Order: sequence, then C-alpha cells, then structure tokens
Amino acid sequence: MRIIRAKDYQDMSRKAANIISAQVIGKPDSVLGLATGETPVGAYRKLIEWYEKGDLDFSRVTTVNLDEYKGLDKWNKQSYHYFMNENFFKHVNLLPERCHLPDGTEENAEKACRAYEALLRALGPIDLQLLGLGHNGHIGFNEPSDRFELDTHCVSLSESTISANRRFFAPDEEVPAQAYTMGIRSIMQAKKVLVAVSGKEKAAMVRTAFFGPVTPKVPASVLQIHSDAVVVADEEALWKVR
Ligand code: F6R
Repeated sequence: MRIIRAKDYQDMSRKAANIISAQVIGKPDSVLGLATGETPVGAYRKLIEWYEKGDLDFSRVTTVNLDEYKGLDKWNKQSYHYFMNENFFKHVNLLPERCHLPDGTEENAEKACRAYEALLRALGPIDLQLLGLGHNGHIGFNEPSDRFELDTHCVSLSESTISANRRFFAPDEEVPAQAYTMGIRSIMQAKKVLVAVSGKEKAAMVRTAFFGPVTPKVPASVLQIHSDAVVVADEEALWKVR
C-alpha cells in the first residue's frame, strides 16, 4: 500500500483525479469503480474540467458504483444514482447505459444483490476502484463485522454511518437504514484501488485502518494486502501517522 501525501482537500482531489485520468487515457475502455460521499466530489470536478478542456474522453468507459440505498429510486435526491448524475455522469460523455449502480428500487434484497453481483462478474475485474473511508472504517457500505462479506449484499447501516449520512438529508427526512453494497471480493479483485481521504476527523481511522492489524472489524484494513492500493490523503488526515 502506498500513501501519497497531499497538502489539502484541493491538492488531494487533483492528485486523485490525475490517477483516474491516467487510467482512462491509458485504457479508454476502463471499468471504473466509483464512490459517492463528500470526499470524491473535488476529484469529479477536476475530471469534468479536464473533460471540458478536451483532455479526457469517457465514451468507452464503464462505471460501477459501490452502493445504493435500499428503497430510493434514481429520481430521489438522496439516492446515489442522483448524486452520481449531478456530480459527475451528466457533465461528461459517459454513456448512461454504461453507468451502473445497485437497484435501490428492488425490494427483494436477494434479487437485487444477485443481479449486481452477476453484472460485476460479467464486466470482469474493475480496472480502478475509487474509495472513500468511513469514520468506522467502512468501505462501500461494508460495515465492521466478524467476517469480510465477499459478495454484493444488503446491509443494515450502523448507527454511526446513519448519523454521518444525516448531513445529506433534510431534518424531517428519514435516513435509510439499509443499503446494497458491493462486497469485499470485487473491491479486492480491482486491479488498482485508490482511496481518497481528507480531513482531521478521518485521521484516527487512517492510522487504525492502514497502520493497524487487518481485521473485518475495520473493513478498510483489508486494503493493506491489496497488491496495488494507493491512499491519497491530505495533511489533516495524515497527522496521526507522521
Ligand atoms: C460511498 C461509500 C462510502 C463513503 C464513506 C466516506 O459510496 O461507499 O463508503 O466513501 O462513507 O464518505 P465521505 O466521503 O462522505 O466521508
């Protein structure tokens, strides 16, 4: 695992976007694994900027997102479909039929997970998987547990994740308690993993996940044994590992 130090959020975003754009330039038909959340928004902005300048072409790229809330459809402003569309998809020349997320509208969890798992397998290993780091060490919505959950699964979100997600919802809106998430296998089979981390509130987890023991109690710790994992983190996120 390599750690790339960035000065601040802007610098971290630029560095992460550079790694993603190198992937797309080197392999125009890349399968990119994408994440939502606050962290990758700056990198998406950079990629949009470079696309607008004519430096990037996404027309042959396929995307698979990590997760989606169960019960939310793609027009729901809190859905990850909506988030991806607003923050990235609609601004670049990705083909809509090549942008995939788990189907939050599928009530039958087993069916939804089986379908997404089949899609991931059919697409083959992800070329580059972008990840954020949850406060409790989750990646995607793989929450702390006694074992690594390998396949796409339906997860009951932990209290800390629900409260961290509350900031994206209006005060009177209920934060969904369940989500569909890619499992650890697809993440670990990705040829390259890029973890973007920013801010001092992530510093303790950076130390635990990337410098502590590998354990399913800290799902991100498994990335330590990935053969090509890169963490791009800013100074605030790295202050406990100096
Ligand atoms: C999002 C996701 C989550 C986030 C994590 C960090 O698709 O899978 O694991 O990456 O919760 O979120 P932020 O970036 O908002 O701190």
